[in-house]
Amino acid sequence: MAGAVGVVGLLSFAPGTARAASDPATAATTSAATAGAGAGAGATAGTSQPCTITSTTPAAPGSPISYANLPASCIPPGEQLFAANCSSCHGTDAAGSALAPNLRGVGAGTVDFWVSTGRMPLADSSIQATRKPPRFNRLQTLEIAAYVQSLAPGGVQIPQVALSQADVANGGRLFTLNCAACHTITGAGDALYKGAYAPSLHQATVEQIVEAIRSGPGNMPRFGAGNITNQEAADIAAYVHGVIQHPSNPGGFGLGGVGPVAEGFVGLLFGVGLLMLVSFWIGERS
Ligand code: HEC
Ligand code: HEC
Repeated sequence: MAGAVGVVGLLSFAPGTARAASDPATAATTSAATAGAGAGAGATAGTSQPCTITSTTPAAPGSPISYANLPASCIPPGEQLFAANCSSCHGTDAAGSALAPNLRGVGAGTVDFWVSTGRMPLADSSIQATRKPPRFNRLQTLEIAAYVQSLAPGGVQIPQVALSQADVANGGRLFTLNCAACHTITGAGDALYKGAYAPSLHQATVEQIVEAIRSGPGNMPRFGAGNITNQEAADIAAYVHGVIQHPSNPGGFGLGGVGPVAEGFVGLLFGVGLLMLVSFWIGERS
């Protein structure tokens, strides 16, 4: 529901003006220059409102997850960046091509995940997209995400997570059950099958973790709110961020005596069942 509110906000923009896109290379440069000006420089010539997350809408009242609302001013520069960097594979208007999937309806959050982790733009579509230094800065990433979102409603939205409302110990339990089979209990990642692998979770931001849970990138299963609630997604993100990425955290995130040894043991107990689940997921996706 909250996502839909964001979408309506975006669609109130008249798409006609975006068609004025001229030289894509110039467009990208202009955008980068605007980004360099920073959020503080309010009076950027020709732009009424800078592309930032202007407000958020809670997923539900009191939920630790809210969704970002992006102003319509993000869309025209986003369209130019998309034309210059993405449409050669994803097609005009993101409708897909023989080289890459249709992006209409995937939502701003899915685009944010793939672009902010550096997976996109891809250079070689024959190998699994990997995390690498992102090509675009935050402003440009939001612009591209807003443009793709403007083409079709729905999909995964860009989350903002209130970690203070998350239960880290519960996140640890859920991580063991739902994620450790592929990413390992330490989050170091592991090989899956036929050259595919589950990457390390040591670099992902809290937002990227929630986006991955909801969008299911590549061979990762997509977890809907029926499998993992928003509260649980925030709990898992808090665990990955607070414990896996900072293992020496001195008790700041109390695991209630559940240390790595106990977790490993739980992992063993559930391991066999999880492996079966994973085979099932992989079979379904390929
Ligand atoms: C060289 C071709 C190529 C370019 C350029 C490219 N992509 Fe992709 N993109 C792909 C392929 C192939 C996949 C599928 C990868 C996979 O599933 O592992 C993909 C997947 C995606 C996905 C995930 C779609 C889904 O349903 O999960 C998103 C989002 C995406 N690309 C966005 C972009 C954006 C935004 C750009 C420009 C900044 C871009 N891509 C540039 C080839 C490309
Ligand atoms: C069936 C195996 C599998 C399971 C289960 C799984 N993942 Fe993944 N995950 C993957 C794969 C494969 C990728 C890489 C996708 C790609 O790049 O094509 C991935 C990518 C990610 C990334 C991106 C990491 C980065 O820095 O780029 C995050 C974050 C993530 N997973 C979190 C989770 C969380 C949290 C869970 C549990 C709720 C989970 N995953 C469950 C296989 C899995």
